[in-house]
Amino acid sequence: MLPHVLIAEPGAFAEIAARAIESRLRTALERRERAHLALAGGSTPRPVYRELALRSGLGAEQWARVEFFWSDERMVGAAGAGSNVTAAARELLAPLGILERRIHRPAVEGPAGESALRYDRVIRAAVPDDASGWPRFDLVLLGVGEDGHTASLFPTSDPEASNGVVATESPIPPRERISFSYELLAAAREVLFLVSGPGKASIVRRLLGSTGSRSELPAARVHRTARRAAWILDRGAASKLASPAP
Ligand code: 6PG
Repeated sequence: MLPHVLIAEPGAFAEIAARAIESRLRTALERRERAHLALAGGSTPRPVYRELALRSGLGAEQWARVEFFWSDERMVGAAGAGSNVTAAARELLAPLGILERRIHRPAVEGPAGESALRYDRVIRAAVPDDASGWPRFDLVLLGVGEDGHTASLFPTSDPEASNGVVATESPIPPRERISFSYELLAAAREVLFLVSGPGKASIVRRLLGSTGSRSELPAARVHRTARRAAWILDRGAASKLASPAP
């Protein structure tokens, strides 16, 4: 099994993931004034956001130094129903009292291409570059779909590489998405995949198991090109791995 794979005991996934996120943010804040965090969408991280808000191991003054972004978003319209921003604002940002100026939301209405360009500009203005000129996030949280997509990078999409944020087309509604590009993800100090549930066991085996065709599924490509990639799985998601951790 690859290093940096942590399998949480039943019922402990949210707590293990929350502590791992806090630990990474604490390290970033020891080294720099601000930490730049990109949140994941989908349902998997929601209990993790609730755990972070409920029993946070970071103090208010530390959270106040975190800049929040999203690694992808659905173009669901201004009402925001079903948007990744709305979910994270409800579960994490509002309970923590994060100030608006620390929250960098992508636009969820209008053409996805325009929203992607605008968000790319927002990120470039707010996140310091690495040596190669790409904005460098301290931590990017990512989920994985059963088809191996991550963020909103799908097996069917091979978006333009020049920007940090790209418009993509999801095979499942809501179809219009924007997403961090492979290049922006590769520039992050670390990407942390959060995967739970037995429904993800097959794709986890394809991505992390010693057998099975990884091909270049989006999550595999992000893992391969990341400066550092870690995975937190629950027992269900890890159930088809050859040798789950003892
Ligand atoms: C989204 C996510 C997407 C998600 C995976 C897993 O906008 O839907 O960014 O990449 O992380 O589809 O979704 P679940 O956590 O709901 O299984």
